[in-house]
Amino acid sequence: MNVSSTPSGGKRSAGSIAADVNLLEAHALTKEFRGFIAVSGIDLTIKAGTIHALIGPNGAGKTTVFNLLTKFIEPSGGTILFKGEDVTRQKPYAIARKGIARSFQISAIFPHLSVRENVRIALQRPLGTHFQFWRPKTSLARLDERADELLERVNLTGMADRLAGELSYGRKRILELATTLALDPALLLLDEPMAGLGREDVDRISALVKQVSHGRTTLLVEHNLSVVEKLSDTITVLARGKVIAEGTYRHVATQPAVIEAYLGGDDD
Ligand SMILES: Nc1ncnc2c1ncn2[C@@H]1O[C@H](COP(=O)(O)OP(=O)(O)OP(=O)(O)O)[C@@H](O)[C@H]1O
Ligand SMILES: [Mg+2]
Repeated sequence: MNVSSTPSGGKRSAGSIAADVNLLEAHALTKEFRGFIAVSGIDLTIKAGTIHALIGPNGAGKTTVFNLLTKFIEPSGGTILFKGEDVTRQKPYAIARKGIARSFQISAIFPHLSVRENVRIALQRPLGTHFQFWRPKTSLARLDERADELLERVNLTGMADRLAGELSYGRKRILELATTLALDPALLLLDEPMAGLGREDVDRISALVKQVSHGRTTLLVEHNLSVVEKLSDTITVLARGKVIAEGTYRHVATQPAVIEAYLGGDDD
């Protein structure tokens, strides 16, 4: 993959959110799988209101970091602070409830339900509050309304009554994003949102990621470096479980360690 920098368009500003606030901090985060160290003492600081990209060759540990931040897996060492609170030992549902949500690298939607029903289920997802098996009709209507609002935000309005399984691959990814947005997360984690997409879908989803990141904080894992360059305020480069560079695209793309990691045969 070519990491040399091309002139970029205007970067997204951090908007009205105070960009100096650390929304998430990981210190010395480590994950060992039976003797294999997949994530090795990384420090990561994500500023509120930014789009922060995590890049690196295959097997660098990017998805493992996501799994650690959402507590899908337990860290072997290190700490995770979210809004200043130590959440290292908290359960996945507690993490989700605090406002960290991810979309999956592999599509995770219900193909036999309609597009609207998929979003509605996401809106109803219990987050450790009350399970509500019975809801008054008005509340259900309100859910449909909110589902339709979300579908409008991601331009899927015309597809609301279609079965999710009938959507194109690109639109399935967009629906998946809508179901993640249903949680209205403060920190949105996107693992390779452009994976497997054609050029047109990449442009469409890039614009969408930018749009839905407005007013929140996004951590993005993405192999498409021109997308990373266009969208990200800050980039952290991982290789073999370690942070090898951090900063703007222009900065990291010129670091010898980064160029070597990408040219060293680990790349896809
Ligand atoms: N459950 C597991 N058990 C053992 N090893 C694992 C496990 N999960 C990940 N690994 C290993 O940890 C390393 C990092 O994997 P990870 O999936 O985090 O990489 P990645 O940066 O997301 O790669 P890609 O770009 O290919 O998605 C890899 O060598 C992988 O084989
Ligand atoms: Mg991965």
